[in-house]
Amino acid sequence: ATGKVWSGRFSEPVAELVKRYTASVEFDQRLAEFDIQGSLAHASMLESCGIIAADDLASIRKGLAQILDEIRAGQFEWLLDLEDVHLNIEKRLTALIGEAGKRLHTARSRNDQVATDVRLWLRASIDELLALIKGLQLALLDLAEQHVDTVMPGFTHLQVAQPVTFGHHLMAYFEMLKRDAERMRDCRTRVNRLPLGAAALAGTSFPIDREMVARELGFDGVCENSLDAVSDRDFAIEFTAAAALIMTHLSRLSEELILWMSPRVGFIDIADRFCTGSSIMPQKKNPDVPELVRGKTARVTGHLMALLTLMKSQPLAYNKDNQEDKEPLFDTVDTLTATLRIYADMMGGITVNKEAMRQAAFQGYATATDLADYLVKKGLPFRDAHEVVALAVRHAEGKRCDLSELSLDKLLEFSPLITDDVFAVLTLEGSLNSRNHIGGTAPQQVRSAIQRGRKFIETL
Ligand code: ARG
Repeated sequence: ATGKVWSGRFSEPVAELVKRYTASVEFDQRLAEFDIQGSLAHASMLESCGIIAADDLASIRKGLAQILDEIRAGQFEWLLDLEDVHLNIEKRLTALIGEAGKRLHTARSRNDQVATDVRLWLRASIDELLALIKGLQLALLDLAEQHVDTVMPGFTHLQVAQPVTFGHHLMAYFEMLKRDAERMRDCRTRVNRLPLGAAALAGTSFPIDREMVARELGFDGVCENSLDAVSDRDFAIEFTAAAALIMTHLSRLSEELILWMSPRVGFIDIADRFCTGSSIMPQKKNPDVPELVRGKTARVTGHLMALLTLMKSQPLAYNKDNQEDKEPLFDTVDTLTATLRIYADMMGGITVNKEAMRQAAFQGYATATDLADYLVKKGLPFRDAHEVVALAVRHAEGKRCDLSELSLDKLLEFSPLITDDVFAVLTLEGSLNSRNHIGGTAPQQVRSAIQRGRKFIETL
């Protein structure tokens, strides 16, 4: 009844099941604004190259403006029979303006059209995501600033290793997000290329001006091979890989928040508004948000695998397989957007139990390396110093006390090089302050890392 744009070649209508199976309008209508933007630029170019008349262009502009209004007002009627976002809009345009509407698709195919729409949409999404990364980085910087000298145990193998500051620990995540932001920015440069003009696969016989369309749509240039332009989705894969990495970073942080909030650890508390209760155990307050972030990371990683697998066996050029790029890509952006937003808020809702962190740093001989370094500075080769301290730790463990609680006489039994200046080295603060070089945990260094961080986010 609606008359498919391509039905001329067919002797019977498409089966109902097939129609539903092949249609994408339910999800690709989300590209509508970008589809219209692309059509407007394409039409302007057609007119300025003398391919359509000025009054056709005027009608197309008027019609598309009305369609945009209808879509924004939620009054546009999307028809499954019309397959996808492109054909729905084109059919409506023709209903509104007649002949001129049918001329819009001159020198264009849905193949270069959809690739253009997705790139425009993804470019806008990346810009929004960069702002959200910045927001989360700001929240990390603010929390780190409050804790430049809050001592906590640093771990390896989840065993107490050396003292660090909580600020330093948070700034590690800042660094990850900094690389993530850089990756997004870099990916954007490859997203920002224009496929239009490639038409179905080989280019078009019309005297088009691709550079003009690229300029009008804010692309940095055109895709330089028509076959590649319509069939490449590596920009989407690259984006999803960068997104999966962000989720992976936040999943690691989530794992730590969950651990730190466990009553067995008690380093932090997360504001009630980010937690939920149990339907059976009245006492429970569960860290659902970080747990879900950890869970949703699986989903985004899955989308990356889906897109890689989608591409791996496709011969050139366009294949309908590519229609399956959209849902993983859309869901990746939605999941990441929601995650970054909630995370920035949640960081502001964290309270820190400094005393619990400090006490934990006393368990596990966190300053043992400092004692070894101390002996090295007195002339002992590091391997020998390591051995001396290992014996001292064994002794202290037997006495159930910290190294700093051993008497000077006792320490002298392990090495004659030890004098009473050793006790400054064995304190947590002594240990922190001694790691005073770029990248080290000394509060002074954490302060300058935060300063550098604030400068970086200005560039986002
Ligand atoms: N809905 C299609 C997609 O998402 C648009 C391109 C269709 N092109 C075609 N020749 N069937 O890929």
